[in-house]
This record gives sequence, C-alpha cells and structure tokens, in this order.
Amino acid sequence: MIPLCVPEIRGNEWKYIKECLDTNWVSSAGGYVDKFEEDFSRYLNIKKAVVTVNGTSAIHLALKALEIGKGDEVVVPSLTFISPVNAIRYLEANPVFVDVSRDTFVMDAEKIEEAITPSTKAILVVHIYGHPVDMDKIMNIAKKHNLYVIEDATESLGSLYKGKHTGTIGDIGCFSFNGNKLITTGAGGMLVTNNEEIGERAKYLSTQTKTILDNGGFYHEEIGYNYRMPNILAAMGCAQLEFIEEYIKIKRENALLYNKLLKDVKGISVPAEKEYAKNVYWLYSIIIEDDFGITRDELIKELKENGIDSRPFFSPVHKMPPYVNYRYLDMSVTEELAYRGINLPSSVGLKKEEIKIICDTIRKFNK
Ligand SMILES: Cc1ncc(COP(=O)(O)O)c(C=O)c1O
Repeated sequence: MIPLCVPEIRGNEWKYIKECLDTNWVSSAGGYVDKFEEDFSRYLNIKKAVVTVNGTSAIHLALKALEIGKGDEVVVPSLTFISPVNAIRYLEANPVFVDVSRDTFVMDAEKIEEAITPSTKAILVVHIYGHPVDMDKIMNIAKKHNLYVIEDATESLGSLYKGKHTGTIGDIGCFSFNGNKLITTGAGGMLVTNNEEIGERAKYLSTQTKTILDNGGFYHEEIGYNYRMPNILAAMGCAQLEFIEEYIKIKRENALLYNKLLKDVKGISVPAEKEYAKNVYWLYSIIIEDDFGITRDELIKELKENGIDSRPFFSPVHKMPPYVNYRYLDMSVTEELAYRGINLPSSVGLKKEEIKIICDTIRKFNK
C-alpha cells in the first residue's frame, strides 16, 4: 500500500533522543525544550515560540491568551479538521462558519465581513493542505473591525505568504507536529507570536501558571493547563527541523510532478499556487469534476484496490452534530469541495515511480 502521508526520519532523531535517555532528562525540563523553541522561532523569523503537547492545545492556548471567552464569536472555515473549532468551544466561544475559495480550498477573505457582528472577537484562519489564505485581506478586515487574527498553520509549515512564513502574520500562529505533518515529534505543537507579552502569557498558561516561590514551593495565581512537551519529543523536533528545507523541496518537486502528470486529464483540477504564495503542498489535493467519469468516492475505492491510500477532503464542520446549531453563511463551495476533493499520497519519502503509478492508475479510471 502506498500510504497517504507518513513520517520521514533520517537525521539525528535517534542520537538526540538517546541523549535524553542517557542523561535522564525525559520530562518537560531539559535542554531540548528550550532549543526546539529557539530553533523554531529562528526558522520562522518570529520573536517567541511556545512548545505544546499537540496542535490543538496550541490553538486553545492562543484563544485563551487573547482572552476569547464565553459568547464571543470567532470566524472560522467549515472546511477544516475539526480541532480549531473544538478549541473555540473549549472556551465557550461560538464559531461562525464562512466559505472557502474553489481554487485554493482555504477561507475566502471576501466572505468574512458579512459574518462579523458586535460579538466577533477574532478570525481563525486555517491554511488547509498547505495553501496560504490571502493574509493581507484578512489583516485589513481585522484592523477595520478591531479583531484578533489566529493562524492555524498546522498544515502549512513551510508555506510562504508574500515571502513570510504562514503562522507569523496574524497575532498568533499555531502548528502541529502530529505524525502526518511536515515535521513530526509523534505528537506536539507550537504557538508562535511577535508579541512577547502574549507569548509569555501562553507559556505561563501552558505550565499550570506555575510560579516558584523563594523557598522552592509552587504558587498558582489562576487556573492553568499542563500543555508542556516532554524533552524526548522536543529532541526529536530539533532533529526533524534540521531537515525541513530538504523536505519542503521534495514536497514541492513531488507536487510539480503530480501536476505535470495530471493537469491534462479530463475532469481533474490540480491545486493552485497563487502569485502571493509558496505552497508546501502538505497533502497534494485534486478535485474530481463531473466529466472525470467516476465519482471521487468511487476513485478512492479503486485506488485502494490498487494499493494506493487516499482520503476525501474534510467533511464540513457545520454539519457535524456538535455544530449544527451554530451560525454559518453560504457554504456552497465548502460543500462542493467536500464532495469532490481528494488528498493523494504525499509523504516526503514518496518515490517518483510511485507518483507515476498513482497517476497512471487515476488515468485508467478516466472514462
Ligand atoms: C488544520 C488542523 N488544525 C489542528 C490540528 C490539530 O493538531 P493536533 O493533532 O496536533 O492536535 C490538525 C491536525 O492534526 C490540523 O490538520
């Protein structure tokens, strides 16, 4: 089976993790935690990075650090992994769902303003599958309406918007190092910001708001969270980060090869890369149009029978039971993409011959 997206481990992972085990620094203190934060912030060119136990906790912390709470509205796409929407509800704030663009699959900036009410506090953009949202437009809307911007950049690490890393343009950016992400720590996340005060606050909240007293005892001024990442995982993160540029290069080369082999196939739309964007193509994604011959779901089944893993696009969150009663605007593009979109194998270790096999197989079902 050619898998959808699996980790690539080819560097110092064993060495750094062994060092943690050999020195007994396995938990949340230890040099790799600080090093991973420093290396990551240097890589993104941002002032502060706070490492977390996963991407969802980073988003939760981001909303909490910006004091988003009960009854506040947060504008968010429905075509996303559910995690950012759940994080909004952890704080009893309310998601308001807006539609996405047909070519980039990400939040359509033109559709945001009509979602804004006096209760709106933030826009939570999600750069799904790797393509950046049009951030200038988002930042202008946010400025005009005095809103915070949080970037869920979990799927777009390595993508650039006008030369800047996604996740570094809004007030806070969030990343995940889950096993299928561009770099992985098994599970993990990172919150980044150029606002040092917000960064300090996020770190404080993520470490049970622990203050150490003069006598070494602990004092907690408010309710905090244990969202710390263990040193062992941070060690793995440091090793993974050493190869990130190479992984990005491979992802982009693979996407170009897919594009070349699929762009002329009737009924297939290949992913966009807007003039403002450098797309990391985290999951290489295509749209199965009516004239392809078989449906997206039939194609998924056929690919599976031919030893190729693939995945349908996200199902719209506004249709999931916990969210059916929340406000949403026109969702026609979201619903269409959810019906037509498919992610193809995208591992860094994917071989060129495998891409050819995948594309030949797809072409076979093009009726
Ligand atoms: C868009 C998006 N947001 C958030 C997350 C949550 O990250 P984690 O699984 O590390 O909590 C993921 C993926 O896992 C994701 O794809």
